[in-house]
Amino acid sequence: MGFLNSGVCKWIWCLAGVGVVFLVGFTIGWFARPTKTGHSGAPPQSFLQEFLDEMRAENIREHLRNLTRLPHLAGTEQNLRLAEQIRDKWLQYGLDSAEMVHYDVLLSYPNETNPNYISIVDDRGNQVFNTSLSEPVPKGYEDVPNIVPPYSAFSPKGQPEGDMVYVNYGRTEDFFMLQRDMGINCSGKIVIARYGKIFRGNKVVKNAMLAGAKGIVLFSDPADYCAPGVQPYPDGWNLPGGGAQRGNVLNLNGAGDPLTPGYPAKDYTYRSSIDEGAGLPNIPVHPIGYDDAVVLLRNMGGPSPPPGWKGALDVSYRIGPGFVDGLAKHKVRMSIHTNNQVTRIYNVIGKIRGAIEPDRYIILGGHRDAWVFGGIDPSTGAAVVHEIVRSAGKLMGRAGWRPRRTMIFASWDAEEFGLLGSTEWAEENAKALQERAVAYINADSAIEGMYTLRVDCVPSLHTLVYDVTKKISSPDEEGVSLYDSWHKKDNWTSDRDAPRISKLGSGSDFEAYFIRLGIASGRARYTKDRKTEKYSNYPVYHSVYETFELVERFYDPSFRKLLAVAQVRAALVFQLADSPLLPLDCPEYADAIAKYARSIAELANRHAQQMLQYQVSFDALFSAVDNFTAAATAFHERLDTLDLTNDMELRMANDQLMYLERAFVDPLGLPGRPFYRHIIFAPSSHNKYAGESFPGIYDALFDIHNAPDQPRAWDEVKRQISIAAFTVHAAAMTLNPVA
Ligand SMILES: *[C@@H]1O[C@H](CO)[C@@H](O)[C@H](O)[C@H]1NC(C)=O
Ligand SMILES: *[C@@H]1O[C@H](CO)[C@@H](O)[C@H](O)[C@H]1NC(C)=O
Ligand SMILES: *[C@@H]1O[C@H](CO)[C@@H](O)[C@H](O)[C@H]1NC(C)=O
Ligand SMILES: *[C@@H]1O[C@H](CO)[C@@H](O)[C@H](O)[C@H]1NC(C)=O
Ligand SMILES: *[C@@H]1O[C@H](CO)[C@@H](O)[C@H](O)[C@H]1NC(C)=O
Ligand SMILES: *[C@@H]1O[C@H](CO)[C@@H](O)[C@H](O)[C@H]1NC(C)=O
Ligand SMILES: [Zn+2]
Repeated sequence: MGFLNSGVCKWIWCLAGVGVVFLVGFTIGWFARPTKTGHSGAPPQSFLQEFLDEMRAENIREHLRNLTRLPHLAGTEQNLRLAEQIRDKWLQYGLDSAEMVHYDVLLSYPNETNPNYISIVDDRGNQVFNTSLSEPVPKGYEDVPNIVPPYSAFSPKGQPEGDMVYVNYGRTEDFFMLQRDMGINCSGKIVIARYGKIFRGNKVVKNAMLAGAKGIVLFSDPADYCAPGVQPYPDGWNLPGGGAQRGNVLNLNGAGDPLTPGYPAKDYTYRSSIDEGAGLPNIPVHPIGYDDAVVLLRNMGGPSPPPGWKGALDVSYRIGPGFVDGLAKHKVRMSIHTNNQVTRIYNVIGKIRGAIEPDRYIILGGHRDAWVFGGIDPSTGAAVVHEIVRSAGKLMGRAGWRPRRTMIFASWDAEEFGLLGSTEWAEENAKALQERAVAYINADSAIEGMYTLRVDCVPSLHTLVYDVTKKISSPDEEGVSLYDSWHKKDNWTSDRDAPRISKLGSGSDFEAYFIRLGIASGRARYTKDRKTEKYSNYPVYHSVYETFELVERFYDPSFRKLLAVAQVRAALVFQLADSPLLPLDCPEYADAIAKYARSIAELANRHAQQMLQYQVSFDALFSAVDNFTAAATAFHERLDTLDLTNDMELRMANDQLMYLERAFVDPLGLPGRPFYRHIIFAPSSHNKYAGESFPGIYDALFDIHNAPDQPRAWDEVKRQISIAAFTVHAAAMTLNPVA
């Protein structure tokens, strides 16, 4: 794998550098005495400040301009060219190494000569309406080749025809409402679901397939993809009526390449047949915009929609099945000709070898592949990484700085096709990563709204996030720290007086690192006001309207928001890589686990009678949480007396901190989801984007009221509680004195 001997191992350089570095490290250790609250052991502020100050909004603008000129879909020539440019630039910026790493994974493309669309067919078999074959291309991009039309990646081919049923967002609760409360049977029907609220793969592969649908149409409703008072692009940042959201409709549950789950997709790797591929849908799927959706929906018959099911189109949102009486013989037909195809993808992996602990890795990774231009997703993220790499290179050149630990920078491919590039690399390097990776910071889209910062991370990173945001200027207010403007706009209130930080869900490349391998992870971006802005994602998400101009005109004209996000990501990586004592806070983890335990017990206690009847108790879990809290508190206190000049003592404490996240991994995984192995966190089974705490217990309790075999269902709850209790207690033991 060439992990450490990549490039010319630079060991001569290292020997030369070691003396200096040792002195620096020693001095740092000496002066950075632990404080009562902080244990900062932080490197001198000047290097961090220099690293942050070197970054420029104007450069991020230029990188974004460069990265968004042409479409760069995974598996295309253009995305390979972009990878080569990034590799060359990273070397030029001064990384020790930067190389391309390829895999051959299952991707999916529409047939260029046989387009996908949906039609209304009359009683004589004529297609009296067809949905559009592409989006109107924005001004200035008319001559650009290779714009892939909106499609649902990995849809099987097919021409299903039948009556349509409107299923709202296609969530678990929406199908419950249809089947249990309204008595509507989706079997053999084509369902139409609006985008939003949950990951599209959950709508398709679990919900619509389970309901027996023979096809699913996904549409963007203005209620979910238009902000009030905002014009459609290019006059504003709303989704135009002809725009549609591309996206994969897999339900991979962390498997990576569908044909090689668990193993890297190398040339020698065994591949399963497509029929046995992981997470592939078996019914045709297709996305449309709201101009087309109006036509499909306006003559729907059947009952009126339940409360909350009406979007913002001027139609009744009747449920169906089928059209109103006069048109009852009209059917909906899907014509889908998309092909699955094993295709080569390329990650770019760049490294700065650590000066003192080269066998400890801090990873900053984000994807490069885009559905079209990738104006926001992912290029705002990729532009930020580019600037961070440039700044790191500059610091090495000018100040002779070199991080204590190894920094790894990744430009992932094929994220849009199921987090494939990042997952394959995690699979190939799993053995080294589980021994050596300290943290993974994700760098997907750096902006999704104009309001304030949003951070999702593991609890042990909370304190570091707060510390670094206090050192960064707010892009919103002159002379105010990012921390303060963020705090004002998104206060955590009910829990604590600090800016809100959320749990990690999934839907981006940190998944394999965090949920499979148990590496402490986090992500940061600029976001919308979640109290007032109710639309999903951002309106033009995954459409052709995600251009450079979208960001430059509307989201961040000064590029200062992107600069602030760049500084947050950079500061996290810098402190993790360079602090003698790892800035991971285990009492924060204890507080979070205690909170999650209380809330899952509360959920179970809604079934107080069954809890008694089946003798279900959370005592063991609370005992484990108490043990964890005690161990974390004592560990934290011992850090006060840690001799930071004693390399061996320092390394022992750091290893306990690093491996704490690993201790939450259960090698057997969650039920039915072998690649989701973290016992404290997993993507929700109902929405991959959202994080669930104590997911094993949560899933066992889900809809338990309707489980046919009650004793068995409650037995599973008991089993999951015991697994959680064991894991938390076992993690606590790793924090105890080592002997
Ligand atoms: C921008 O792209 C061009 C090639 O199109 C390349 O030569 C140049 O180095 C790139 N600039 C940056 C900052 O990456
Ligand atoms: C695309 O569609 C054309 C026309 O139906 C067909 O001849 C061709 O084989 C298809 N291509 C692929 C790769 O399936
Ligand atoms: C829809 O497309 C089909 C196939 O190309 C064509 O035969 C039909 O006339 C089209 N219908 C309309 C209303 O354009
Ligand atoms: C739904 O319809 C299918 C096919 O018509 C049938 O097999 C199934 O039993 C029905 N389900 C319910 C709950 O009525
Ligand atoms: C956050 O909420 C807490 C509790 O309601 C309050 O005491 C504090 O002043 C708030 N902080 C800010 C910055 O709004
Ligand atoms: C917590 O620690 C106590 C004391 O060591 C032990 O008896 C108990 O079993 C532990 N709890 C769990 C769930 O392991
Ligand atoms: Zn993305």
